[in-house]
Amino acid sequence: MNRQKTEPLLARPDPSSGEALYLQVARAVEEALRAGRLRVGDRLPAERELALDLGVSRTTVTGAYQELQARGILRGHVGRGTTVVGTPPDARHAALPWAQRIAPVTVQAMHVALTAPDGPGVIGFGVGLPDPHLYPVDTLDALLNALPRGDGSLYNPAPAWGDPVLREALSGWLRSRGIRAAPEEILVTTGGQQGLNVLARAFLTPGDVVLTENPSYPGAFLTFRWAGADIVGLPVDHDGVRVEALEEALARYRPKLVYLIPAFHNPTGAVLTAERRRRVLELAIQYRVPVIESDLYGDLFFEQDPPPALKAQDSSGVVIYQGGGSKLALPGLRVGWLVAPMPAMAALTVAKTFEDLHTAALTQRLAAAFIGSPHVERHLARLRVECRVRRDALVTALRQHCPGLRFRVPGGSYYLWATLPPPLTADALLPVAFEHGVGVRPGSAFSPNGGGADHIRLCFAAHPPDRIVEGARRLGRAIEEALAKLGSAPSPRVPLSASVV
Ligand SMILES: Cc1ncc(COP(=O)(O)O)c(C=O)c1O
Repeated sequence: MNRQKTEPLLARPDPSSGEALYLQVARAVEEALRAGRLRVGDRLPAERELALDLGVSRTTVTGAYQELQARGILRGHVGRGTTVVGTPPDARHAALPWAQRIAPVTVQAMHVALTAPDGPGVIGFGVGLPDPHLYPVDTLDALLNALPRGDGSLYNPAPAWGDPVLREALSGWLRSRGIRAAPEEILVTTGGQQGLNVLARAFLTPGDVVLTENPSYPGAFLTFRWAGADIVGLPVDHDGVRVEALEEALARYRPKLVYLIPAFHNPTGAVLTAERRRRVLELAIQYRVPVIESDLYGDLFFEQDPPPALKAQDSSGVVIYQGGGSKLALPGLRVGWLVAPMPAMAALTVAKTFEDLHTAALTQRLAAAFIGSPHVERHLARLRVECRVRRDALVTALRQHCPGLRFRVPGGSYYLWATLPPPLTADALLPVAFEHGVGVRPGSAFSPNGGGADHIRLCFAAHPPDRIVEGARRLGRAIEEALAKLGSAPSPRVPLSASVV
C-alpha cells in the first residue's frame, strides 16, 4: 500500500453526520483510491483490524466491503483477504449517464471487443494477431529504406481508390491466385476491417438482411448491424457453409448481401469444398445476390491449399473479393483490398472516401514493394511453416493438458475452435483461466444470433511453441478448476483489453 506513515489510510466516519456508517467507510475507501493512497491490486486491512482503527463495529466494515464489492471495486477471497480490483467513477463524469447513451449494437460490440482477457503474465490466445517474430522485419526495413523519395510523393494524399503502384502489384499477385482483376477493379482499404465498413456504407440500408455463417467474424456481422441490417446466421460444418441452408435463407429472406469466409473460416477453420463453391455461385446468380468473399486466410494453408477462390470462378460478376495484409503478418501496415465488378466501384470508392478519405501513401508504397516482389512468396512459405509448427505444438499440448476439449485439427490459418467439456461454458471458464494466466476468446463472440457459449477460439499464431505449451498447461488447470467450481461461488471480474480480431 502506498501511504506515508503519518497519513491515515481512511478518514474516520462521523457518527453524527446522519449517513450510514458503512456508507461513510465505503466512501472513505473510494476517496483513498482517488487520492492515490490505495491502488488496484492493494490488499485492504482485515475487517477486525480496520474496525479497531476506525472506531466502528466489525459489521460496519463488513457492510462497507460488501457495498464496494457490489460496485466492482473490491473483491474478497476466502483466506486471502480483500483486494482492490476496480476504481470508483470520477465525480466529474457524474452529470451525464454515458452508459445510457450507447447504441444497442455498440453495447453488443463492446461485449465482443472486451472478451479477450489480457494483462501482464497472461498468455493470450484470444486475439487473432500474429507473434511479431513472424513479421518480415528485415525485408520491410530494407524495402522501406529503398523507397524512392526526395520528391515528397510518399507524403501526398493517395487517390481515394488506392495508390496506383499498389493496385498494379495487387493485380499481378491476385492473378497468381487465379483472380483476374484489373487495377481499376481493386479498391485499397485501410485494413480488412475497413473493407467491411465500406461495403456496409455502400450497400446497406436499415432493415436489409445479410446472410453470414454462424459462427462468423464479429467485425463483419457487427459492422453490418451498425448499418441497420438484420443478420441471419447459416450453419457451418467442416466443409464450410451448408448450402441447403443458404438456399433456404436466400428464398426466405431475399438478403441484400451474403458474407462468407470460404477458406479457413474464422473461427472454425472450415474450408468450403469445390462442390459447395460451385453451388454458392449458382445460387448467387439465381437469386441475384452479391457474395462477399472474405479471403484473408486462404494463403495460410499447412497441408493442402484450399480450392480456387469464388472470385476466380466468378464469370458473372456476383462476387466481391476481400483481402488484406494483416493475416499475412503485416498487421501494422493497415492495408486491405476489395476486388469488385466495375459497376460497383464508384459507390465503393465514395464510401471509402467517407470512411477516411484515403489510405496512407507511405504504407501503400511499402506494401506494393513487398507484394510486388518475390519476397512475398518466400515470406508466406516461412509463415506457413511457422504457423504449422505452432498449430502442432498447440494440438499436442491440448491433447496432453486439456483432454476434455474436443476439436478438429485446423489445416491452416491461425485458429483452433474447441468445444468445452459439458457443462462448462466460456463465461464460467474465462475468469478462472485469467487467474491461471491464460486468455481465450469465448465462442459467443462469434455468434450473430446467440449461441456458441460452449466453445472457445484459440489463436496459435500469437506465441512461440514453448509459450503455447505453457498456455495449454494453464488452460488445462483452469478447465479442471472451473468444472469443479460450477454451481458454487460467483465468478470474479476479469480485466479486459479491447479487440475484435
Ligand atoms: C475474417 C476477417 N476479416 C477482417 C479482419 C480484420 O482484418 P484487418 O486487421 O486487416 O483489419 C479479420 C481479423 O481477424 C478477420 O478475421
